[in-house]
Amino acid sequence: MQDSYTSLPIQTIAPVLSQLPGDKSVSHRAILLGALAEGTSEFQGFLNSDDCFSTIAAMRSLGASVTSVGSALQVEGLGLSGLRAPTQPIDCGNAGTLCRLLAGILVHVSGNSILVGDASLSKRPMQRILTPLAQMGAQITANAGCLPLTIVGSELRGIDYALPIPSAQLKSCLLLAGLAANGETRLISPGTSRDHTERLLQSMQCNLTISGTSIRLRGKQKLLPVTLSIPSDFSSAAFWMILAAGLKQPLHLNAVGVNPTRIGLLTLLEKMGVSVTLRNHRQYGLEPVADLIIHPSQALRGITVGAQEVAHAIDEIPIFCILAAVATGKTRITGAEELAVKESNRLEAMVTGLQQLGIVCHVFPDGLEIEGGQLQGGEVNSLGDHRIAMAFLIAGCLAKNSVTVHGCQPILTSYPNFIQDAEKIGLSLIEGR
Ligand code: S3P
Repeated sequence: MQDSYTSLPIQTIAPVLSQLPGDKSVSHRAILLGALAEGTSEFQGFLNSDDCFSTIAAMRSLGASVTSVGSALQVEGLGLSGLRAPTQPIDCGNAGTLCRLLAGILVHVSGNSILVGDASLSKRPMQRILTPLAQMGAQITANAGCLPLTIVGSELRGIDYALPIPSAQLKSCLLLAGLAANGETRLISPGTSRDHTERLLQSMQCNLTISGTSIRLRGKQKLLPVTLSIPSDFSSAAFWMILAAGLKQPLHLNAVGVNPTRIGLLTLLEKMGVSVTLRNHRQYGLEPVADLIIHPSQALRGITVGAQEVAHAIDEIPIFCILAAVATGKTRITGAEELAVKESNRLEAMVTGLQQLGIVCHVFPDGLEIEGGQLQGGEVNSLGDHRIAMAFLIAGCLAKNSVTVHGCQPILTSYPNFIQDAEKIGLSLIEGR
């Protein structure tokens, strides 16, 4: 992949896109939980992206055997107590999900482990996991709440913990620690967050008691291996949904994961005047899947988006901002302070990029405001963030003149075939500026 691409304005797109990439969140969990199961798990539809490669390397360094051939993944699990401490620091690369979930495993792997990451991950907050893990008896030292983390595996006890934020990474970290702890772990979240960990644990015959946003997990439960397909990633599909909505063209996207904790973007689209139909509902294990049909809209109107809506569309806000930029009227997003601590400060990155393209917008500590208008052409920097890079390549399709995006390499962390899929659907991309 080149580091800069120029995206030209387009009028029409292909009406159907199939074979979208596998879900990144589920792919990470397939490796991590597969390695903790007692026996060999097989997955189809695995996402071969840089973030997931970091997870494969991490689990191999703990002694698990993980093989991926095309989109088939095989993980030979060693059980809850079969992993051994790595001999080298584990490099989590750009992957926050890997880092936070793996910490929940390493706290009970006997011996010393060190977690490091790239420049972006090294700046991201880890205190959210350190506080509750310490209450469970974990021994971790960090660098002012950030990486590197040095972990000494210990005997853990279950805790009662009220999460301060509705974070799936935090919740999953504590579930993975709780799995090996003595006694019960009881978590309550201030709102819903993606529940792929809970679903995969249940597929592996782990007993969880879930009531609203509360979860109870008894420690020391065995996980049984599974054979499952991984749904396509709704967050990757979102780029094409916004493109279709912005061009007011119909689009069918086949076999996309529609886990209810992930599809908040559909509500935002509906409020803006775009209708999306879900057809052919089915299940991949405990994960719901459907085909999506985006219907051509007449007018797009600016909307207000609050904290609970943000939580269900946490990774889709950057691409949603592109639609807001071409809608009529103002869009205001609040309760989105978590976006400031993602792979980049996504609030700043979107506002800077949109201003570069002639859109009037403002950033606030917990959100942003966008005056819908006409995207002009220009040059934008992704700030090293995959979702920002893809969002602005879509902006180029909807703009008056071409948009050059610098910093496209990180797209490989989540959507390695983005450029191929973009060309399939009809984007006009030129390498370089
Ligand atoms: C993820 C959870 C979310 C999301 C991230 C993936 C996961 O992060 O933004 O891309 O797989 O658990 P938070 O838990 O920080 O909200």
